[in-house]
Amino acid sequence: MSNGQKPDPCSIIIFGVTGDLAHRLVIPALYNLTTGKLLPENFCIVGIARKGMSSDELRDSLMKGLHQFTTRKIDETLAKQLLSCVTCIEADPKDPASFDALRDQLDKLEARRETGGNRLFYLATPPTAFLPIAKGLARTGMLKENGMWRRLVIEKPFGTDLASAQELNHELLKLMDEHQIYRIDHYLGKETVQNILVLRFANGMFEPIWNRNHIDHIQITVDEKIGVGHRGSFYDATGALRDMVPNHLFQLLALVTMGPPSRFDAHAVRSEKAEVLSSIQIQSEEEALKNSVRGQYRGGKVGDLEIEDYRKTENIKPGSTTETYAALKLTIDNWRWAGVPFYLRTGKALGIKRTEIAIKFKQAPFAMFRNTPVDKLSQNYLVISTEPVEGIELQFNTKVPGPTINIDGVEMKFRYKDYFNAEPSTGYETLIYDCMIGDNILFQRADSVEAGWRAVQPFLDAWKKAGARGLKIYDAGTEGPEEADELLARDGRSWRKLA
Ligand code: BG6
Repeated sequence: MSNGQKPDPCSIIIFGVTGDLAHRLVIPALYNLTTGKLLPENFCIVGIARKGMSSDELRDSLMKGLHQFTTRKIDETLAKQLLSCVTCIEADPKDPASFDALRDQLDKLEARRETGGNRLFYLATPPTAFLPIAKGLARTGMLKENGMWRRLVIEKPFGTDLASAQELNHELLKLMDEHQIYRIDHYLGKETVQNILVLRFANGMFEPIWNRNHIDHIQITVDEKIGVGHRGSFYDATGALRDMVPNHLFQLLALVTMGPPSRFDAHAVRSEKAEVLSSIQIQSEEEALKNSVRGQYRGGKVGDLEIEDYRKTENIKPGSTTETYAALKLTIDNWRWAGVPFYLRTGKALGIKRTEIAIKFKQAPFAMFRNTPVDKLSQNYLVISTEPVEGIELQFNTKVPGPTINIDGVEMKFRYKDYFNAEPSTGYETLIYDCMIGDNILFQRADSVEAGWRAVQPFLDAWKKAGARGLKIYDAGTEGPEEADELLARDGRSWRKLA
């Protein structure tokens, strides 16, 4: 997030370049950056592949990926120009000697390309490779910053629980400084998510009422239509909670609940986020069971799509108790949010793809309408929505035209597409660009990651112990297990219905 300055000359070194992430998101994002003239003049892309692959083969494969996954019309000249700076180098994270060879080849290549030795190492690999790669880079001196910068981008999942995230942070911080680590969460690449801070802090009217005095509760929903598809082995070991909550849903939660940063810079913003995440009340396992619902889908139709039973999906254990749906009730123990419940839910194979934050304001007193035909007031919601539409919606009560007093709920809608003509993007452009200019405002700091895991750990522990007990089966194409309604109903509240 900058004023459009060109990054320093640099190389981006992609581990896992033959994989889906590099083809689907990283290279298309780099292409989009080229079209916006946001890549440096002196720039090169180095793809690290384990099995021997020539640079030509890698370029061909990335070009195919670019055509398949592009979000924009491809200009062939520009695409060829971008991919002409791709070089494939062989290295194996398990083989320390290959890092010495990698360093020597990078030095030579960069001298030719005049990239000044600035390097962005992008780990688009399975998480088991994160540490071996970082160690290999550190051992060969490739993470040392002597007048040039060296940065490491790490994809999620960052750990699988609190202990493993702490361990990973601890090990990484032995090898490099926190400012060199860019823990990526693609939700922060979304315009609507970045806009939350602007909505809250660039407008005078929201912040004064953004607290327990005026807000009844907040719902955060990330519903997906897709099932686990071909990601069975990853997903069955992960589940909905680990896959979505401590990262994506907590990023939304942090942005919507954090205090105002003193300035728009990485230190101030990330400190406020860490502060609020570490204020989430840590529940006992007993409380965690009471304040959560977990479900697993069985086969059914999602629109026209037939989704098979989770347990019959490729690479899923037949009796798996992994959750594909999670709903939680959390509270934040601070002055602003004391007593305000936060309801979070996410699931796969649901009837709709929807990501939204719904802020429910306290009801106006009804007293004034007691002797009128009005029998109830509609709810006041402010809804920040990322999917299926990008926008913000305010729901309020209005008088129905006519001689008597009747009231109905109406909506005031803002849609990004009505105001802005932004080129479709992958969501990774800003993130990659920010890595190159050294702005880590949109990346997770070690303390935030750990605070997130700390808050979900009691749920992980309680669910593990409960096993099949308490796992609710729901039909694909529905809103998830009915028990999730209970979680709110017992507080006299209800989820916003699927549109
Ligand atoms: C990923 C999860 O991080 O986010 C996936 O691993 C999930 O399981 C995806 O489908 C959702 O992202 P989005 O941007 O489609 O909401």
